[in-house]
Amino acid sequence: MEKENERELKIQKIKNGTVIDHLPAGSALTVLRILGVDKDFKNSVSVAMNVQSKRIGMKDVVKVEDRILRPEETDKLSLIAPEATINIIRDYGVSQKNRVTIPKEIIGVLKCGNPSCITNRREPVTAVFVVEKEKPIVLRCKFCERIMEKDLIEIQF
Ligand code: CTP
Ligand code: ZN
Repeated sequence: MEKENERELKIQKIKNGTVIDHLPAGSALTVLRILGVDKDFKNSVSVAMNVQSKRIGMKDVVKVEDRILRPEETDKLSLIAPEATINIIRDYGVSQKNRVTIPKEIIGVLKCGNPSCITNRREPVTAVFVVEKEKPIVLRCKFCERIMEKDLIEIQF
């Protein structure tokens, strides 16, 4: 018969690195793209999808060993997972726990959906979006005023 601890085994604790917790269920794959996880990625990565959370119902969790997030990664993360918690793990302990924050302006990260926007010309101007609403996320292009919502943001990552 299976032992109790075998049945309960979830993803393991990590020794050093980053645990991105409280991700919306289904968003882990986008998070892996933001982190650049591909066949050449060398760090250990564990992913849990659709697990029970006390705070947000179902959630995803992504753990990356021996790596902290770059500011531009955290900024992207905030746009698709405004409830996410970033835990820095040192020697098995949580040494820092931060909620992500959505920057006031999103500069050079996203393309405007309006083909005739000045930011989409042949000699483009850097795209800048201002945050019109945080939950759910609504961004507005600073140049042409076109709005952009979660789905259009997510497919760009
Ligand atoms: N974690 C991990 N490896 C460690 C320590 C923690 O993978 N060595 C994970 C935990 O499994 C959890 C997250 O990091 O998913 C945060 O850990 P902790 O703060 O101990 O958990 P909670 O108190 O449940 O966090 P919160 O209050 O943010 O929900
Ligand atoms: Zn525009």
